[in-house]
Amino acid sequence: MVYPDWYKRIPPVGCGCVRGCSNLNKCSCAKRNGGKFSFNKNKAIVSTKTLIYECGPHCKCLPSCCNRVSQSGIQFRFEVFKTKDKGWGVRSRDMIPKRSFICEYTGMLINFEEAEKRAENDEYLFDLWNYSHDTTKNKRSKKRKSSSANGFDSRGFTIDAARVGNFARFINHSCSPNLIAQKVLYDHSDKRIPHMVLFAMENIPPMTELTYNYNYKVNQVEDSDGNIRKKVCLCGAMECRGRMY
Ligand SMILES: C[S@@+](CC[C@H](N)C(=O)[O-])C[C@H]1O[C@@H](n2cnc3c(N)ncnc32)[C@H](O)[C@@H]1O
Ligand SMILES: [Zn+2]
Ligand SMILES: [Zn+2]
Ligand SMILES: [Zn+2]
Repeated sequence: MVYPDWYKRIPPVGCGCVRGCSNLNKCSCAKRNGGKFSFNKNKAIVSTKTLIYECGPHCKCLPSCCNRVSQSGIQFRFEVFKTKDKGWGVRSRDMIPKRSFICEYTGMLINFEEAEKRAENDEYLFDLWNYSHDTTKNKRSKKRKSSSANGFDSRGFTIDAARVGNFARFINHSCSPNLIAQKVLYDHSDKRIPHMVLFAMENIPPMTELTYNYNYKVNQVEDSDGNIRKKVCLCGAMECRGRMY
């Protein structure tokens, strides 16, 4: 991630588990996660939630702690390939077991006003403020036009992977995805700016395209004049809703 100069990091409070984080009653990171970790001892994600707190640089545990998953680098041989009709896509040469960490979606952090300006080139924008992996909880729309009457903008931050970023920017949307995007905090404690981390939700055979649900709301993405923008979905899933937005 690249953070702009105006961004002031709020340092996290780390746990003091010098002998590892196995005592859930003592580990403050476990407490922040509601008393249990979202990862098992093989570092596989066993439960998704609004926000996962991993152990981080301020914790006393070792890098091998089971609650440090998205910070250890990629584990599979990924490749960017040309899809039939969606431009570039990503697949793995290796078999990916269900619940595995895939990668983080990295880029440059921008604020809402800056995201508004770039909205018509939205290919690589990931809105942190209105994204929930759980579609039933995704109440807010992907509306980019300001609707705040009092001038205060409650809308937050966006990751722009157009100029800086990693291969996650080439992962396409599907209405029936094999990955999930999960918000994770570990190196700071600003809940508005979590890391966006992708995990496998099923066993993924080699050379299968990797996808997650971008969670746009159909008929709710507007251009700067307030016109509704439309984008056809080419995911090819049986459950495809026909439109990305
Ligand atoms: C994050 S990029 C993914 C990589 C992109 N395919 C490329 O070539 O750089 C998102 C863009 O990919 C295309 N895309 C992703 N998923 C798609 C889908 N299911 N149907 C149609 N286009 C898709 C859209 O143009 C979208 O704005
Ligand atoms: Zn701990
Ligand atoms: Zn730990
Ligand atoms: Zn679709």
